Amino acid sequence: MSLDQFRAAAAPSAGLRPATIAPTAASMPAPASTSPQNAPVIGRVLAVTGSQATIGLLPAQVGVSSDARATVGKFLAIHSATSSLIGLITDISVDVPRSAADKGFVAAAKLDLMGEIMRDAGRGSRFERGVASYPAIGDGAAMMSNADLRVIYELSGAGSINVGHLQQDPSIGGFLNGIELVGRHFAMLGTTGVGKSSGVAIILHELQRTRPDLRIFLVDPHNEYGRFFGETAQVLTPRNVKLPFWLFNFEEIVDVFFGARPGIDEEVEILSEVIPLAKGMYTQYRAGTANRLAAKPIDPRNSGFSADTPVPYRLADLIGLIDERMGKLENRSSRIVHHRLLMRIETIRNDPRYAFMFDNANVGGDTMAEVLSQLFRMPANGRPMTIMQLAGFPAEVVDGVMSVLCRMAFDFGLWSEGAIQLLFVCEEAHRYASNDRKIGFGPTRRAISRIAKEGRKYGVFLGLVSQRPAELNPTILSQCSTLFTMRLSNDHDQALVRSAVSDAAASLLAFLPSLATREVFAFGEGVALPTRLKFRELPAHLRPKGEIIGETGVAKNVESVEFIASVIERWRGATMSHRRMDDSTPEYDSFTEPPPLQAAQPDSDRYRILKRPIGASADPLRTPQAPAVAPGPAAPTQPRWPTTR
Ligand SMILES: Nc1ncnc2c1ncn2[C@@H]1O[C@H](COP(=O)(O)OP(=O)(O)OP(=O)(O)O)[C@@H](O)[C@H]1O
Ligand SMILES: [Mg+2]
Repeated sequence: MSLDQFRAAAAPSAGLRPATIAPTAASMPAPASTSPQNAPVIGRVLAVTGSQATIGLLPAQVGVSSDARATVGKFLAIHSATSSLIGLITDISVDVPRSAADKGFVAAAKLDLMGEIMRDAGRGSRFERGVASYPAIGDGAAMMSNADLRVIYELSGAGSINVGHLQQDPSIGGFLNGIELVGRHFAMLGTTGVGKSSGVAIILHELQRTRPDLRIFLVDPHNEYGRFFGETAQVLTPRNVKLPFWLFNFEEIVDVFFGARPGIDEEVEILSEVIPLAKGMYTQYRAGTANRLAAKPIDPRNSGFSADTPVPYRLADLIGLIDERMGKLENRSSRIVHHRLLMRIETIRNDPRYAFMFDNANVGGDTMAEVLSQLFRMPANGRPMTIMQLAGFPAEVVDGVMSVLCRMAFDFGLWSEGAIQLLFVCEEAHRYASNDRKIGFGPTRRAISRIAKEGRKYGVFLGLVSQRPAELNPTILSQCSTLFTMRLSNDHDQALVRSAVSDAAASLLAFLPSLATREVFAFGEGVALPTRLKFRELPAHLRPKGEIIGETGVAKNVESVEFIASVIERWRGATMSHRRMDDSTPEYDSFTEPPPLQAAQPDSDRYRILKRPIGASADPLRTPQAPAVAPGPAAPTQPRWPTTR
C-alpha cells in the first residue's frame, strides 16, 4: 500500500454502515473447509452487531500449531470474493448458542472489525481502515495469511520506516508511517527498563535515514543517547552550550535567580521594572547614543521592550539600575529588599555551574542567531540532530533551561513560518509536562503544550517519552496521535492509556502488563492498524545507557581506586568553574567597546542601615565589572538566599 493510500484511509469508525439483520445460526450453511482466498476456514460468522462480529470456531482449532490458533489479540480475515474484512480477536469463550453447537462449533470468538483489504484486479490489493461492507452470517473466517499481513503492514511509501517486526509474524517488518508519526506527535509509554529509550533511538535513527530534512532535538536527562547516535548528532552539555541569560524570559529568569523557588513579590516587581530598562540601555549602546555615565533611566513604558522581549541586556546594567534605585531610598526595609536582590543576582552569576548562562553572555553582541543555529542545526552540516544532555546542569535551573528550549523551538517555527521541520523529543516528559500543577515549572508545561496544540502548523513536532503516563498532562498526551505503549503494570497508567485509544484498540491493552522487553503496542496514525511489534535488537554497545556504564550494565573496574577517583573528579568538576585562566574577556560587546556602566557609588550611610553590612571585598556593588573569580569547590551554591516564605 502506498503512503498516499495510507493517508487517505479513513478513521476506524468512518464508513461504518448499519449491519444487516442477521439470519439465525440455524439457517447458516454447513461449515466448508476453505475461504475464497483458499485459506483454511477456522470458523464462521454467527452474529454481527455494530462493528463486532461473533465467530463460531470449529474443532480443528485444537491441537494445531500456536501460529495457526485463534487466540486473543490475533487478527482474523473474513474473505469475500472482492475483499477481506479484518478483525481483531478480543474475547474467546466456550459459550456457544445451542443452534451453533449443533452445527459443530465448539467455541465463540468476538471480533472487532477494523478494516478491509480490497482486492481489485487492476490495482492489486490495498488496505483501508474502517468497514464499508459487513459480513453475512455464515461467512468463513480464516487466520490472516502472511500475504494479507504484508498488505496491511508493509508500508512501502517514501516516509515509511521499519523498526523491528510484527509480534504475530516475525517475517513481516514493523513498519511505521514516518510522516504521520512525526507530523501528528507521538508518545512512548512504558514502565522503567522495558526498552523505551532503545525504541526511541531506533525510531529516530530510522527517521534520520529516511528524512534528512528533519531536524531532531532530543532532550536527554540521563546522558544516555550520545553513544548511539555518534557522529550523526551534536551533543550539547553545560560545557559547550551557550544559553545567554538574556534569552530567558521574565518567568524563566526569575526562576533562575530564585533557585526554582517562588520569587519574593517585592524583588520580582523590581526585576520587572529594571529588566526592560536594561534592555533599552543596551539598545542605546548599540545605536551609540547613550551617555553611559549619565545614563538616564528611561520610562519602561517608553523603552519599547517588555521583560520578555528576547533582546540582550547587560547584567552590569541591571545591577547598576537596582543599585541606583536603592541609593534613592529612605525606607530601610525597601533597601534590604534591593540589597537581597542584588546579592541573589551576584551569587547566581558567580556560581560556576551557571557559566553557560553568564560567562561572556554579552560578548559578540546579539548572538541569538548563533544560539538558534547551534541548537536547531541550521545548517545541519551532516548532523541534523542535537542531543541536549541535561545531567550536568544544576538541578534548580533544568526547568528554566527546558522552558527556554521548548519556547525557542516553537517560536522559531512560528516566526519562520515553519521553515524547518523540527521534532522535539522529550524524555521523562512527566517531569516537564506534569498533570499536577505543583510539579514542574508552569512555563515549561505551557511551552510543551503549545507545541502539542499548535506546533504542527509551524513544523514543530513533539515526541514524548514517559514511564508514568498517569502523571502526564492529559491534554498534551491527547495531542499525540501515535502511541507506543510498552509494558505497564500500574493501574492508573493503564487506565490513562485505555482512555486515550479507540475502543477497538483498547481490548489489546489487556496485554500491557505481560509484554516482554522490546515489545510494544502501537496505536494511531503512525500505524496501519493497532499493532503488537517487537523493536529490533540493538547491539550491546549501542544501547542507551549512562556513559560511564559499560556494555554489561556495570561500570568497569568498579572496585579500583582509580575508578572511584574518576567519579569524584566528575562529581567535583560539575561544581567547579569551567572558565579558562585566560578567559578574561570583559562582559560587554566588542562592537562599541563601551566602558562599563559605573554603578552609583553607595554612600556609607546606606550600609549602616542594612542589617548585614557588606564587606568591601564581597561588595558586588563596588566592583560591578570585576571579572568573576572562580570559586573553589566551596562555591556559594548552598544555601541559597533565605526566603521570607
Ligand atoms: N531494542 C533493544 N535491543 C536490545 N536490548 C534492549 C532493547 N530494548 C531494551 N533492551 C534491554 O533493556 C534494557 C533497558 O532498556 P531501555 O534503557 O531502553 O529502557 P527504558 O524503558 O528506557 O528504561 P528507563 O525507564 O529506565 O529509561 C537495556 O539496557 C537492554 O538491556
Ligand atoms: Mg530510558
